[in-house]
Parts: sequence; structure tokens; C-alpha cells
Amino acid sequence: MDRDLSATFEGIFHRSPIVQVRAPGRVNLLGEHVDYNQGVVLPVAIDRAVKLAASPTADARVTLNALDLGVQVAFRLSEVVKKRDLDGNPLPAWALYPAGVAWSLQDTGLSLSGMQAAYTSDVPIGSGLSSSAAVEVAFAATWQALSGWELDKITLARLCQRAENEYVGVSSGLMDQFASACGVEGHVLCFDTRSLEWEPLPLPPSTAIVIADSGIRRTLAGSAYNDRRAACEQAVDLLRKYLPGIQSLRDVSSVELAAYSTYLPEVIQRRAEHVVKEIHRVDQAMIALRRGDARMFGGFMYASHKSLRELYEVSLPELDCLVEIARSLPGVYGARLTGAGFGGCTVNLVDASQAEVIIQGLHNAYQRRTRRDATIYLCHASDGASAVKF
Ligand code: GLA
Repeated sequence: MDRDLSATFEGIFHRSPIVQVRAPGRVNLLGEHVDYNQGVVLPVAIDRAVKLAASPTADARVTLNALDLGVQVAFRLSEVVKKRDLDGNPLPAWALYPAGVAWSLQDTGLSLSGMQAAYTSDVPIGSGLSSSAAVEVAFAATWQALSGWELDKITLARLCQRAENEYVGVSSGLMDQFASACGVEGHVLCFDTRSLEWEPLPLPPSTAIVIADSGIRRTLAGSAYNDRRAACEQAVDLLRKYLPGIQSLRDVSSVELAAYSTYLPEVIQRRAEHVVKEIHRVDQAMIALRRGDARMFGGFMYASHKSLRELYEVSLPELDCLVEIARSLPGVYGARLTGAGFGGCTVNLVDASQAEVIIQGLHNAYQRRTRRDATIYLCHASDGASAVKF
């Protein structure tokens, strides 16, 4: 239990919380922009998380206090679909995530308790580490703890994804909510977004994960992410003429894509080529993981970055710069942008014994080249969401 969070809650609501929840962000090691194409992804839940304290109320109202923003808003569970607060004003953007979870859970037939909740997060916002999925999973886990029903983790993650897709309006895949719900300490999660089967595999021995935050922020609510997804759907629609029966780009091999890509518009060709080859890279990277071969795995990370830069076009010069610097440093096995792109972070798989020197090296060279300060830190693969009731 986090005593400070409980004390803060008491200061605001003049009662004690009866539940505390922690839900982590994630960093994706490989398999980028493949979750909405039914591919396999390799994320890790990180040791940065949303922490939430809550108590139920009998009046079916939800009062949210976002401690980091210093703001509070309240809405009625029965009117959540309207996206309005108690005074009829539109809910602020940050409140759409918890409200979206309430909408999604209720829409599936679950009955929810009203609640007072206060939460804080050290997952940086807009940095590609799934700050929004962490908020969604934290609220779903809180309602689960307060409302007397229990969902398996994948169902809970899917309901959070639905909140983001249909209530917030971002067509994200399932990777982020999955990782926040299912994380396993010290492990990479191999998650098949088609079968929904998953398996934790240990990180290669003596390695560490270093996250380098370029300081450039992006929002997924912008159209670029949804555009990429639409491009993949268009590719499948067009390829179906030649490959009847395909459901997604997961069903298309590199050889088939090469044979038919002249029938696709040029931009769509590039988007599809990234996805098809990234799905293949993940297959091979899983062999590397099973062998504990960090160097082989790292090679796929560099290849993934190149593809995200040249074919999927979601990188930025600052992210390319961080990857280039990483490549020049001894002890780095692989580096790439992580998450949706358009800003945010790179993820680096490094030799654990050289991690501190690598962090310094990345920081200094990035500052020299861009005149920007990157926030660079060691990250530990952590467990997924948990709730403690008292
Ligand atoms: C965002 C989305 C995920 C995934 C990644 C890109 O994080 O929320 O579902 O598509 O981008 O791999």
C-alpha cells in the first residue's frame, strides 16, 4: 500500500480509500504497428505506472481527481455516453479514458459502482509508453475490485481497447492494454494478437532495457495513426483480389506481397511491406529470445527501426539520431523507436554491465547533436496491473 497516496486521497475526499491499484505502462521491444494486423508483438510492462486510490459511492457518480494535473471532474454512470460532467460541460480530454472504460464495461452488461478516485502516473504522456492504456487498465481493475465481478485479463484488456477505439476515437490495437494487464517481471510477453494466446519469455541473460525519451511529444488522437491503420486495411482489400481468403496482412507472405505489390498504390505498398516483414522479423526474433541471443535479437531491432523510418514513415530525425548514437556505443545490442512513433522514445537492449555508461553516452551525444535534453533511464520488466483492497 502507498501511504502517501492514501493520505492524499483522505485529504481530498475526507474518507479512506478501500482499494489501491497499480497499472504499468509498456515498452515494445519488437513488432511495431502489427497488432492491428493480427501479428505477434513483444512488449514488456515497465516499472512506471498509474497509481490509483478509490472508494465506492452509493450514488452512481464518479468523481475523478487527476493529481498530476490538479483537477477534478465528476460524471454520472447512467449518462456516461454523453461525455458530459455533472454540470453538462464536455468532459476534459484526460477524463475520456476513465469515462470510456465505464462506458465500455457497462455496455458489455457489467454493473458498476460509483466511486471517488484519485490517481497519479509516472508514465510520461505522449511518449509511446502507453500512458493512456495504463489509465484505462487501472480504472478497469478498480471497477473490478469495487463492483463484485471478475474478468480474465485478456477480456479486461479488450474492454479497455474498446474504450479507446470507440469512446476516445483512436483505432489502437490490443498490445498496450494487454501488456499493462498481463506483464510478467523480468519477461518479454510474446502476444499473438490473432489467437490472443501469449507466453512470457525471459529477457536474454545479462541484458537491460534502456529507454531514451527524445522529449518530442505526439498525440495518437491525431490522424496519422488512424491513417496508417486505414492504409493496411486498404492493402488487404486490394490484395484480396489476388489472394482470396486473406483476413489481414498476417496472411500475406513477403513473396506474395512482392508478386502483387505492383497492383497497390505506391504508399500502400510501402506500408504493407513494413507490416509483412515486421511480422516475419518477430518470428525470427522469438527464436533469438528462446536461445537467449541478445545480439541476434538486437539486429532485428535495428532492422525494424529502418523499416519504420523508410517504409512506415513514423520516425523523426530525433529518434533516428538516438538510434544512430546507440549503434555507435559498445554494449548496445539493438535500438529502435518504440510505440506508434511520430515522437516519444527509443528502446535499447543493452549489456547490463554497461548500462550506466551507455545512458551517459546517449545523453551527451544527443545533447551535442540536437541541443535537446533526452531523459534516459534503465527500465525493469515488471508485473501487470494489481489491486489491493483494505
Ligand atoms: C500504439 C497503439 C498500439 C500499437 C502501437 C504501434 O501504441 O496503441 O496498439 O498499434 O501504437 O505498434
